[in-house]
Amino acid sequence: MKVTVSRKAHFNAAHRLHNPELSEEENASAFGLCNNPYYHGHNYELIVSVCGEIDPKTGYVVDMKWLKELIKTEIEDRFDHKNLNEQTEEFKTLNPTAENIAVVIWNILRHCISHSLSLKVTLYETPRNFVEVGG
Ligand code: NI
Repeated sequence: MKVTVSRKAHFNAAHRLHNPELSEEENASAFGLCNNPYYHGHNYELIVSVCGEIDPKTGYVVDMKWLKELIKTEIEDRFDHKNLNEQTEEFKTLNPTAENIAVVIWNILRHCISHSLSLKVTLYETPRNFVEVGG
């Protein structure tokens, strides 16, 4: 039987949504407040869900201490209190929408988690807006 275990984390980061191929008006229309040229922050809430069989040796799907540490070293240390556009390699040219941030996080974590386990990333940009990747 497959069981899903999830770990919540959070990070604060600044961003600007902007597509240099669009006009100022088109950018303002597409991205609204998130197009502010002086950047602004979000409190991102992250839920990492791992699904698989329970290991009979431990009774765990994954060790949550390991998952907590993985999220800290791979995601929080990389993105927390950063300007995503200016200070991270991942978003130098990729628009840091919640969708793109969630895909980047999924790809980073996917490389670190056994392929016998499935991975889902849920990212809240605001308490009411969230995106899901994988599963
Ligand atoms: Ni924003």
